[in-house]
Amino acid sequence: MHYNFDAVVDRSGNHAAKYDERKKKFGTEDVIPLWIADMDFRTAQPIIDALTARAQEGIWGYTARPESYFAAIAGWQKRRHGWGIDQSLMSWSLGVVQTISACVKLFTPEGGSVLIQTPVYSEFYDMTEAWNRKVVECPFVEKDGHWSVDWADFEEKLSQVDLFLLCSPHNPLGIVWEEGDLRRMMELCLKHHVLVVSDEIHSDLVFHGKRHIPTATLSPEIAANVITGISGTKTFNLAGLQASTVVFPDAHKKAVFDHYWQCMDIHRNNAFSLTAMEAAFTGGEEWLEQLLPYLSDNFDFVVDYCQKYIPKIKTFAPDATYLMWLDCRVLGLDNQALHDFMIQKAKLGLNDGCSFGRQLQGFMRLNAACPRSVLAQAMDQLRAAVDAL
Ligand SMILES: Cc1ncc(COP(=O)(O)O)c(C=O)c1O
Repeated sequence: MHYNFDAVVDRSGNHAAKYDERKKKFGTEDVIPLWIADMDFRTAQPIIDALTARAQEGIWGYTARPESYFAAIAGWQKRRHGWGIDQSLMSWSLGVVQTISACVKLFTPEGGSVLIQTPVYSEFYDMTEAWNRKVVECPFVEKDGHWSVDWADFEEKLSQVDLFLLCSPHNPLGIVWEEGDLRRMMELCLKHHVLVVSDEIHSDLVFHGKRHIPTATLSPEIAANVITGISGTKTFNLAGLQASTVVFPDAHKKAVFDHYWQCMDIHRNNAFSLTAMEAAFTGGEEWLEQLLPYLSDNFDFVVDYCQKYIPKIKTFAPDATYLMWLDCRVLGLDNQALHDFMIQKAKLGLNDGCSFGRQLQGFMRLNAACPRSVLAQAMDQLRAAVDAL
């Protein structure tokens, strides 16, 4: 089947946070929303067909998760990433953010500390602070648009923390970790006895011939120290269904996690997430294979456009995710002024760079997962606004 990602889908009746929360987030509805990480594309037809059939049944009572659910997820990980997962160590979770939150609470002491590499997905800060744990930042070092780990700082910070939250692939920098870097990080965590939570939600959205390496595949010793969060919600644009998977290193940690959620009776998929995830991981590949080149062309479009018409804004095609990191420092605006400029002048709803790295000035994040025509309109608006500055 051929998928047409150029089709502009009207999401006005879709209860999409990306659209319906514009007023709350930006103070106006008059912005093209290129912020929260979901896509403006319809998902794979096998998922739509499976959900339609489920809806037609007309009964959506308490749902039992069949063996085939985790088998479908494990099969996908094996096929796409070469990771053979022991299904007895998999748990369902509402989302990867909920997984992170629970791990911070359950696997660090009261008043403990969590290491994050910034800039990073802002929930890494929020879920740590939600439990009164201390955020310890290891900022990436930037040189000519290339961001890398400051190894001395990383090791020094590891000696102060209880848990390391790794983002692999990385949001918002689009880094697909090379084996050498990943191994070095993990070996340092072992050396300093720091448990790792590896957020791999973006692992299927990888470009430029890069390969995602699941952290837990590096060695048995490393696998024994890693809890991994995976999901089909980014890959297949299903975030509203709220389902993800956790892979534990041992039965004890899984039991601690499962007990916590059972205490709130949150341990079942809803009827639709159950159906959608299984359909995605068994029948969604054809759609994904068409989506990836479309997204990659979107990145190239934005990069070329900025080079030609908005050279004051520097960006690059990310190796993973569909999120682009815009370096707007040459505009000479502080964070508040840049925020206001994007909304009021460019009429774009982007994410502020300083929400991912609190010390940063002058960056924005742009979600490029929309039809090319929408992106073209957004870039034209941005160009006109920068020209008028
Ligand atoms: C790195 C990362 N982790 C987690 C999430 C959200 O995960 P979930 O919706 O499963 O809670 C996102 C969404 O943007 C993300 O970028």
